[in-house]
Amino acid sequence: MSASASLLDVTAVETFYGPIQAIRGVSLQVAQGQIVTVLGANGAGKTTVLRTVSGVLDPERGSVKFEGKEIGHLPPDRVMRLGICHVPEGRETFPFLTVYENLLMGAYTRHDKDEVHRDLELCFGYFPVLKERSHQRAGLLSGGEQQMLAISRALMGRPKLLLLDEPSLGLSPLLVTQIFRIIRRINDEQGVAILLVEQNAHMALRTAQFGYVLEVGRIVLADDCAKLMQTDAIKEFYLGQKDSGVRGQRRWKRKRLWH
Ligand SMILES: Nc1ncnc2c1ncn2[C@@H]1O[C@H](COP(=O)(O)OP(=O)(O)OP(=O)(O)O)[C@@H](O)[C@H]1O
Ligand SMILES: [Mg+2]
Repeated sequence: MSASASLLDVTAVETFYGPIQAIRGVSLQVAQGQIVTVLGANGAGKTTVLRTVSGVLDPERGSVKFEGKEIGHLPPDRVMRLGICHVPEGRETFPFLTVYENLLMGAYTRHDKDEVHRDLELCFGYFPVLKERSHQRAGLLSGGEQQMLAISRALMGRPKLLLLDEPSLGLSPLLVTQIFRIIRRINDEQGVAILLVEQNAHMALRTAQFGYVLEVGRIVLADDCAKLMQTDAIKEFYLGQKDSGVRGQRRWKRKRLWH
């Protein structure tokens, strides 16, 4: 793990949906300025991990610390004010509001008007199409443009940590490449740490520095992404490399692999 100071510390977290236990003792860390990925098949618990960090769900057991402060039972708006912005699965933009109004919603906790304006221009710099469409309803945007809007809306909250839930979902390979390039730029230029949940292992392992593999609510592998890419099980089950030497029935099913 990086020597930089820890920003997010998740320790032995267990999260339930009513009687259903989705997370079974997950521990992970994100250091300041780091990109960390969580890989896993459908239903592994990736979205639940992000919802637990952002305050949408409360953990039943374990702790979630941000900058050393326990946040496990804070509501989502308090978590956001501390500097964690969540781009949820399926984007969840407001379809009847314009692109511009959606972006301002991301800054609703802020009162520094000049800086909000500066951040709007920053988002338009990353995604020029949003400037062109700023007065159109968000519901009229394509899937890729909505993903760009969802990422930009989160950036308008000036996050220290960005939670990204499957930004590649449903996008063409070309768009996926473009969006991941911008994700790397946001991390590099703004110093924003990123916790990236993905099924597109190719992009995630090339983008992040450290990775965790989640299987049925538990972390089964954790290592530097460069090392994970050399791991037989990752090659076989996530990168689709048949000559990896792993035999037997596939336990992990991939939703898609584009490369
Ligand atoms: N609202 C819910 N009510 C009950 N069970 C749920 C709910 N949401 C998720 N689950 C269950 O919790 C487990 C983890 O789901 P989660 O959505 O976190 O997985 P995921 O890794 O994000 O999957 P996907 O790749 O399909 O998005 C699954 O068994 C799922 O069926
Ligand atoms: Mg999910």
